[in-house]
Amino acid sequence: MAQFGTVFCDHFAIARFTNGAWQEAAIEPLAPLALHPASHVFHYASTCFEGFKAYRWDDGKARIFRLYDHVARMQKSAASLHMPVPDVDLLAGMVIDVVAHNSDDIPAPPGALYLRPTLIGTLQNIGAAAAPSTEATLFVLTSPVGDYFEGGARPLKLLVEDQKARSTEQLGSTKTGGNYAAALGPILDAKEKYGADQVLFCPGGDVQETGAANFLLISDDEIITKALDTSFLHGITRDSILRLGEDLGYKVSERDFTIDELLQAVSTYEAALSGTAASLAPVGCLVYNGEEIRVIDGKPGPNAEKLRRALQDIQSGVAPDTRNWLTEIG
Ligand SMILES: Cc1ncc(COP(=O)(O)O)c(C=O)c1O
Repeated sequence: MAQFGTVFCDHFAIARFTNGAWQEAAIEPLAPLALHPASHVFHYASTCFEGFKAYRWDDGKARIFRLYDHVARMQKSAASLHMPVPDVDLLAGMVIDVVAHNSDDIPAPPGALYLRPTLIGTLQNIGAAAAPSTEATLFVLTSPVGDYFEGGARPLKLLVEDQKARSTEQLGSTKTGGNYAAALGPILDAKEKYGADQVLFCPGGDVQETGAANFLLISDDEIITKALDTSFLHGITRDSILRLGEDLGYKVSERDFTIDELLQAVSTYEAALSGTAASLAPVGCLVYNGEEIRVIDGKPGPNAEKLRRALQDIQSGVAPDTRNWLTEIG
């Protein structure tokens, strides 16, 4: 299977917001967009996106995981950027139509069809630094993806960053390109200097998240993760793991914690990253102040594995979907 995110289905869904209203959405052959060089997005970063997956079950039908929660998060992102907000029916309808159109291209689990709704500001005005984009284009790309854990789960190494933030107070929970641009420099530095896979951003000691995933501590009976606030992205995988953890008898502690607590905890707690791409990926090692700290014995732990399996069993239809997280297509 090709590298994640580099192969696309040959049709996508697209809709435009112009003259104060959303125009009808269409499924079109995937092709370059014609955009005026003065488009707001190029200059003032009016853009947000989503990332989630559709799975194909043994019965041949596709199921989209937590579609309406991702639509709601996209609406929240668009509103926070003062962009035209797509209504639920429009965006969910575009996702459903594009999945139905491309359903033959969905690999069997643990592969999936990765879904990428994207909203960009297309107002032609390079003098609109302090004005919102009142024109926009919304599209949904789809990309077949393979098993993230092919060859087994490799425990990740994280650099603990106690100064730099990956975002700002007002945009931390917005899924917008600028946040990834801000995180890129620190991530590349951490790779080069320490061979780290990712950076765990903990500005002022507050353990937040990595560049593209949420962070959890997991013992035999407790899951600890930062409580929701505006400083970080509210992952749908994070929420799913917490709900499944409750079902499995874990105490769920959503609370703030510091680097000091983190470094103490990892002698007895597993650590893991949650996100759509990797579901729940084990962390084997932290780097802080130039020192490497092992998470328990540095190997993937049984609790993260148990929770990941519980999530993947629902996504692939092995376990019942008691919370209606899946939207069946066709
Ligand atoms: C910054 C950031 N945090 C967390 C997540 C995890 O979110 P989700 O579980 O909804 O995929 C992502 C990835 O989507 C992300 O980019």
